[in-house]
Amino acid sequence: MKVLLIGSGGREHALAWKLAQSPLLTRLYAAPGNPGIAEVAELVSLTVEDHAAVIAFCREMHIDFIIVGPEAPLVAGLADDLRDAGFVVFGPSKAAAQLEGSKGFTKDICARYNIPTGAYQRFTSAEPAKAYIREQGAPIVVKADGLAAGKGVTVAMSVDEALAAVDDCFAGAFGQAGAEVVVEAYLDGEEASFFCLSDGKTALALATAQDHKRVGDGDTGPNTGGMGAYSPAPVMTPQMVQRTMDEIIQPTISGMAESGYPFTGVFFAGLMVTAKGPELIEYNVRFGDPETQVLMMRLKSDLLPILYAAATGTLSEVTADWHEDVALTVVMASKGYPAAYEKNTPIDHLPPATDGAKVFHAGTALKDGQLVASGGRVLNLTASGKTVAEAQARAYALVDQVKWDNGFCRRDIGWQAIQRDKQ
Ligand code: AMP
Ligand code: GLY
Repeated sequence: MKVLLIGSGGREHALAWKLAQSPLLTRLYAAPGNPGIAEVAELVSLTVEDHAAVIAFCREMHIDFIIVGPEAPLVAGLADDLRDAGFVVFGPSKAAAQLEGSKGFTKDICARYNIPTGAYQRFTSAEPAKAYIREQGAPIVVKADGLAAGKGVTVAMSVDEALAAVDDCFAGAFGQAGAEVVVEAYLDGEEASFFCLSDGKTALALATAQDHKRVGDGDTGPNTGGMGAYSPAPVMTPQMVQRTMDEIIQPTISGMAESGYPFTGVFFAGLMVTAKGPELIEYNVRFGDPETQVLMMRLKSDLLPILYAAATGTLSEVTADWHEDVALTVVMASKGYPAAYEKNTPIDHLPPATDGAKVFHAGTALKDGQLVASGGRVLNLTASGKTVAEAQARAYALVDQVKWDNGFCRRDIGWQAIQRDKQ
């Protein structure tokens, strides 16, 4: 099978690494890819926003299957245009991608199909939103409706902070994404990410993970795209996974189909495990980054037929088997991230891959033969182990071999699980 993978991050490197192990794969292309992905795929310099160019490439190369990594092309309707051109695509339609593209859309689906989530209201102007916040009190959560690169959410511990967040949104802090605001109840509990495939009718549970969104040790500092992750998430016991499938995922699949937006692709559910059980914080409609890096380390089965089954309505015919071992990834980022950072700083040494240890590339590039950091999140040092503590020690052993002066990382990825193991 000839496959085109769209994307260029650590998530796509992990997907490419796993796809490359498939006996079904004859050729892997990645657009635009990165130097890590180039180890296993042929990079294609396509402008992903130019759907006609992507279609022309797929026709010319007789591509059998296209896997879309990031959310932006999905929300822009790339999967629809490719499917209309006759291609098999992994990833939801533009309409179904609203589950990530509009928080208000997701909340309305939850309300209609009784999916547990925080109580909420949608607003298109500041005064009614503020009146609602004053009535509800703090803590309370204010969210820009649209895609805001993970920055559109304020978990406000005081009413004043929530009111200021409303003003920010309507003042244009998040551009068009903040033209509508969702105000929702604060959920108290432990967060976990749950990944599950859907072919529009059937669900196939994948695995759980925990991300570390804050930039600093001890979960301090501003939010980022994710500074590290591990899988599985201990809070997601088999019972919690079953409840998530029954109470959240299945009603979403049938609700989306009934609403006229059948969902094919991956559900990445952000959950809060509260005293009442799992509640939905948000859906993403693509694999998590860096969660995918740990998922791919743990996946025993061939990834390619599983994704293909999700894209072709045959998910009930496949299963996904997982290694028992824990996998943990540490993100190395450019100093300054998530604010401004220097680009094109040299990376002089990376540790080689060994059994159960792998460096995934995110924002890297080759400049005149020199590997450089071209983005905020740059490297994902990923390792497996019998326990979170063991996987953590192995991942940091990789970190310590990296020679990159402008890089930094958190030193405590996995702390919650390690603390839990000690109890
Ligand atoms: P989101 O972009 O919706 O995932 O929100 C970013 C982060 O804000 C989440 O990972 C949570 O840590 C936090 N958050 C979002 N919604 C809530 C909520 N209703 N209650 C508590 N924390 C929340
Ligand atoms: N790591 C969070 C995300 O991929 O959205």
